[in-house]
Amino acid sequence: MKIIRAKDYNDMSRKAANIISAQVIMKPHCVLGLATGGTPVGTYAQLIDWYNKGDIDFSEVTTVNLDEYRGLPRDHEQSYWYFMHKNLFNSINVQPDHIFVPNGSNPDADAACKEYDDIIHMVGGVDLQLLGIGHDGHIGFNEPGAAFELGTHCVDLTEETIDANTRFFGNRDDVPRQAYTMGIKTIMQARKVLMVANGADKADIIKKAFFGPVTPEVPASILQMHPDFILVGDEAALSKV
Ligand code: PGA
Repeated sequence: MKIIRAKDYNDMSRKAANIISAQVIMKPHCVLGLATGGTPVGTYAQLIDWYNKGDIDFSEVTTVNLDEYRGLPRDHEQSYWYFMHKNLFNSINVQPDHIFVPNGSNPDADAACKEYDDIIHMVGGVDLQLLGIGHDGHIGFNEPGAAFELGTHCVDLTEETIDANTRFFGNRDDVPRQAYTMGIKTIMQARKVLMVANGADKADIIKKAFFGPVTPEVPASILQMHPDFILVGDEAALSKV
């Protein structure tokens, strides 16, 4: 595990974008595993900036996103498909047929999840997986207690995650209760894992996840066992480690 200390959110975003940029330069046809949430938005903005300056080319890149709400169509403003297009894909030259997000509009959970695992397999696995971390230690939608050995699967969101995501929907009742998510097994199979974390509210979970025992109760803790895991955090998020 490698920890990179950043001064603040902008510095964290630049450092994370640098690592992603290096991945794309070293392997132009790489597979990037991408994440939603507030934390990576600055990283995406930095990548867009470098793309606009001609410093990075996504034309051969494939992207696979971590998760999607079950039951939301792609064009729903809170779908992760929509989020990724708004915050990254619409502003870079990734080819539309190289973009993959679990299909939240397929009500058949088993079929949707199997299809996604087949896609990840077909593209050759993930070269670099970007992750945020939830206050309860979740990665993707793998909530506390999630089995470490699962591929893509359907999960029930915890009350805490529903609360945290209410800010995006306006109304708690509108937050979907289930999601399709890459499993911990899928995430651990990524050749490199890059986590971004900022803010004092993440300090406790960062300490627990990476300086405490590896346990399904803190899903991110498994990353201690990953051979190439990089955590880029700002001072506030790393203040307890
Ligand atoms: P956040 O979400 O980046 O909005 O804090 C992180 C997560 O829940 O994975």
